[in-house]
Amino acid sequence: MTSDPASTTRRRVAVTGAAGKLGRHVVAHLAERGYDVLALDRTRPASPSTPFIALDLTDYGQVIEALSGGVDEHSTPVDAVVHLAAIPAPGLTTNASTFANNSAATYNVFAAARALKVRNVVWASSETVLGLPFDTPPPYVPVDEEYHPRPESTYSLTKALEEEMARHFCRWDPELTMTGLRFSNVMDPEDYAAFPSFDADPSLRQWNLWGYIDGRDGAQAVRLGLERTEPGCEVFVIANADTVMSRSSAELMAQVFPGVEVRKTLGEHETLLGIDKARRLLGYEPEHSWRDHAP
Ligand SMILES: NC(=O)c1ccc[n+]([C@@H]2O[C@H](COP(=O)([O-])OP(=O)(O)OC[C@H]3O[C@@H](n4cnc5c(N)ncnc54)[C@H](O)[C@@H]3O)[C@@H](O)[C@H]2O)c1
Repeated sequence: MTSDPASTTRRRVAVTGAAGKLGRHVVAHLAERGYDVLALDRTRPASPSTPFIALDLTDYGQVIEALSGGVDEHSTPVDAVVHLAAIPAPGLTTNASTFANNSAATYNVFAAARALKVRNVVWASSETVLGLPFDTPPPYVPVDEEYHPRPESTYSLTKALEEEMARHFCRWDPELTMTGLRFSNVMDPEDYAAFPSFDADPSLRQWNLWGYIDGRDGAQAVRLGLERTEPGCEVFVIANADTVMSRSSAELMAQVFPGVEVRKTLGEHETLLGIDKARRLLGYEPEHSWRDHAP
């Protein structure tokens, strides 16, 4: 389960992808909660107050230097790693480039953590491993962690392979705690202005079962992952508690996926990306909803 962060000494955490959409929220949230954050990215993050090292994670030597305290002016080794850096979606570059960047970066982070005996790793997996864009309907809803990954793109294939890689790293080191967070589509509050436009046509967002994750709730999940102390690899679906739509979740399923089993009585706007495991094992509870920001 989780430990009380207040009872632990100030922990130094490296955050890869710190300049990114999710990374910005994670860096701010961890700093606010008393973590000593080391930001790692190819690009400098906007926040000048966080110690930062520019690096390319596909180069193992650079990853080892950064995590071990080997870089001038950054001599404290880290106790934990949050690995978010990636090309964050299919189709942004060629498939082979996505695979080469993401798989090498993740292998290097996992392997450097192992070599340096950094025994807590939280990393960004993706909702896509659940079978997005659901051209083949999901096996049931809410979708959860109980069925085997169904990647439908090279980006997602890489995320699925990374999850498998993490399981083996944990098998090799029984003291290692690895937490994979299958984030839904990351949103900033500014993105919510567009949400009402999804309503007219359910097919616009059926690709991810109308889910989303507020970056601030994503950051909460990362912190809860860092607080996990039980060794071993676990993956969690991380989404907000509601959908992006005004019509009910039951209505959406009946209209768009009439043949798919609905395994629970759904709350009116209840997420179809199941977050019960994250609630149960991490204590995750989303605090934000686009409904609180709508114009
Ligand atoms: N954005 C989403 O909707 C979404 C959904 C599910 C999962 N994810 C995952 O969450 C993570 C963060 O996504 P994001 O939306 O913040 O992406 P982003 O593109 O905004 O940020 C990713 C960051 O990683 C850095 N990066 C990439 N490759 C690197 C390398 N080789 N070396 C150093 N830095 C590198 C980039 O410079 C960038 O700042 C990613 O792993 C992504 O796959 C994102």
